[in-house]
Amino acid sequence: QTLTGNKVDSHTTVYGVIGDPIRHSKSPIMMNRAFREAGVNGIYAAFHVKTEQLAGFIQGVRAMGIRGINVTIPHKVEIMKHLDAIDDSAKAAGAVNTIVNDNGRLTGYNTDGIGYVRSLKEEAEPELAGRRIVLLGAGGAARGILHALLKEQPASITIVNRTVERAMELAGSAAAEADIRAVGQHGAEAVCRKADIIINTTSVGMAPLTEGVPMDVQPGWIRPDAVASEIIYNPMKTRFLQEAEQAGCRIHGGLGMFINQGAYAFEYWTGKAAPIAAMREAVLEALE
Ligand code: ATR
Repeated sequence: QTLTGNKVDSHTTVYGVIGDPIRHSKSPIMMNRAFREAGVNGIYAAFHVKTEQLAGFIQGVRAMGIRGINVTIPHKVEIMKHLDAIDDSAKAAGAVNTIVNDNGRLTGYNTDGIGYVRSLKEEAEPELAGRRIVLLGAGGAARGILHALLKEQPASITIVNRTVERAMELAGSAAAEADIRAVGQHGAEAVCRKADIIINTTSVGMAPLTEGVPMDVQPGWIRPDAVASEIIYNPMKTRFLQEAEQAGCRIHGGLGMFINQGAYAFEYWTGKAAPIAAMREAVLEALE
């Protein structure tokens, strides 16, 4: 029996996560709990793989029949050229975070965006259709979330970014019929005041108490009936969320995105519904 309580025998299927660094990852704790809870004979490990070893790693995945891999920083883009097929979700996001191995044929998916949206709907705002959404940031995380949000038919999505050119480029990557705008810091106040949901995808919140607020968004710009949402989960309450909460808003932290990206990966690999409550419990215990 393993540390996580999963039984291992000759039928056990192997899964894992690759990244560099990787030892901080909570994915093994979450996914091994999911296997145990759902009665899946699987085991999930963390592999520290450097970029120059990616090709060799993928050969190993094929040779050993590893069924599923999650991909994290810095490999989400680089991994794509080693795969046999790229799903539309990953094409839109421009990055892969989940690999499914079907008898040696490797397909790349991206479950970050859909994981985020499922979490937002379940935990904060069940109905996204017709909403005015502001996306703070225009990096890789924003790209995946934007494309997943578009499927929900919001009234509009406005991308606000310090470097306005990146916001424009991201807005241009979406279908022409969608109402997507791009603004820089100067436009932030006006769009935030009108927003139903403000989503921070910038890396600013990682230093919650000392550092600045994304895009210098002021708490007074957020309507009290709006939702303030964040993709960072450690810390659980970034300064952005703390200020939004004080302004009376509903807040939505990043933990649900992490859990639900894993839940979708679990579902793609096993065909079973993910035991989300148990996964959340495992991550919360690990974060304590
Ligand atoms: P990720 O893949 O995690 O989204 P990224 O591609 O490096 O990471 O994007 C980081 C995002 O955070 C960008 O939108 C970045 O703004 P710029 O495009 O102007 O660089 C934003 N960001 C990072 N630090 C910031 C800061 N101090 N103030 C405002 N925005 C910041």
